[in-house]
Amino acid sequence: MRRESSIHGQWSSKLVFVLAATGSAVGLGNIWRFPYIAGENGGGAFVLIYLACILLIGLPIMMAEIALGRRGRQSPINTMATLAREEGLHRAWGLVGWLGVTAGFIILSYYSVIAGWSLSYVFRAASGAFAGLDGEGVKNLFEGLVSDPERLLAWHTLFMLMNILVVARGVRSGLEKAVKFLMPALLGMLLILVGYAMTQGHFMQGFAFMFRPDFSQVTGDTILLAMGQAFFTLSLGMGAIMIYGSYLSSRASIFKTSATVVSADTAVALLAGLAIFPIVFASGLEPGAGPGLIFITLPMAFGEMTGGLLFGTLFFLLLVTAAWTSSISLMEPAVAWLVENRGLDRPLAAMIVGGIAWFLGIGTILSFSLWSNPIGFNLTLGGESLFIGGTLFDMADYLTSNIMLPLGGLLIALFVGWRMNRRSVEEELGLRSRVFFKAWYHVLRFAAPIGILLIFLKAVNLI
Ligand code: PFF
Repeated sequence: MRRESSIHGQWSSKLVFVLAATGSAVGLGNIWRFPYIAGENGGGAFVLIYLACILLIGLPIMMAEIALGRRGRQSPINTMATLAREEGLHRAWGLVGWLGVTAGFIILSYYSVIAGWSLSYVFRAASGAFAGLDGEGVKNLFEGLVSDPERLLAWHTLFMLMNILVVARGVRSGLEKAVKFLMPALLGMLLILVGYAMTQGHFMQGFAFMFRPDFSQVTGDTILLAMGQAFFTLSLGMGAIMIYGSYLSSRASIFKTSATVVSADTAVALLAGLAIFPIVFASGLEPGAGPGLIFITLPMAFGEMTGGLLFGTLFFLLLVTAAWTSSISLMEPAVAWLVENRGLDRPLAAMIVGGIAWFLGIGTILSFSLWSNPIGFNLTLGGESLFIGGTLFDMADYLTSNIMLPLGGLLIALFVGWRMNRRSVEEELGLRSRVFFKAWYHVLRFAAPIGILLIFLKAVNLI
């Protein structure tokens, strides 16, 4: 059955949906996570595998997620349950929604902490704190921040409140208003910064690092990380894009909007890499510096460049803006569910969801100080001893990006590709060309799920 609208409201146009979904996709994942994960995994080969995952797994699953959301027109938990009922399928499909909501809480908990680092760096940049610092100096500045739980807690709290504020106001006056204002600002800042980065030289070395593949370094884990990054950066597998799809008009083209979102997201990640790696090499720093990469390399560069004060501030503002439009989408599925099933007011629902994620975030805050010793166990497989574990932050990040999101995506692909009536899928997608529909349907039924499964198996050394 086709429903015309959701009880939570509807985007006022297709363009607003594209802005909101791009806002969800473009975030810390593109500017903070992509460069540091690519840096830790050798660059080129990782980037190519990531691009292949975006195209073969990400784009088709995004279309499926939007189609599901628009057909169900409810929170992902209820959408999955309702569609399963309509199609005469087992109730257990509703668990896909629950898996997503759980992943959303965990991601939001650490996402907000890192966004808090970015907020603090806006003020640092604007006050000229980077001027004249060498590598040691910027490192100390970063370590001073992350090893101070109270300061981190304050920034994390502030960022979470910014999200609650938007989500509490609802689809039209909260989410839509925020993205209409923030996305053009984000684009403007990005264009200025790219122009600036291109005049700063050392471009070729960065370019080569990102695009010259060395497949000899690739392991099963590298491939899993690249796929995890593809899911994370496109906000797939947890219902964020699904719920945004539930506010989309029935007339809009799912393929065109998805293709726009995926292209914009990929462009931002590649641009971020092309802006960051040249600086890493120019300053003799390490691309494998980990989560602190952009917070260490960029301040050093901004501290030396003319105009660094202005552009440095602008850069961290861009980061906060991108993080903000993403984290509101992390909250929305759980908030919508509380409104639908518990009859709560939106503001209260937003406070509860924000509050839980805020509390969980303390685990990430302490992962950089009090609880920075990795916890875990040694696993001996075929004579090789492997350490499984890390800090709470490492575990939250690894578990969500590399396991929960791809698993959610796999189940979505199986649901739409194998369990739903083909006619309902075709109707919802509304593609004009049958050939094109068939191509998408095949990729969703075969290529995407088999790809995800093979990558999972490879990562645990079973193939
Ligand atoms: N796509 C966001 C980023 O790249 O920063 C992160 C994210 C948002 C992941 C929403 C998942 C999600 F549902």
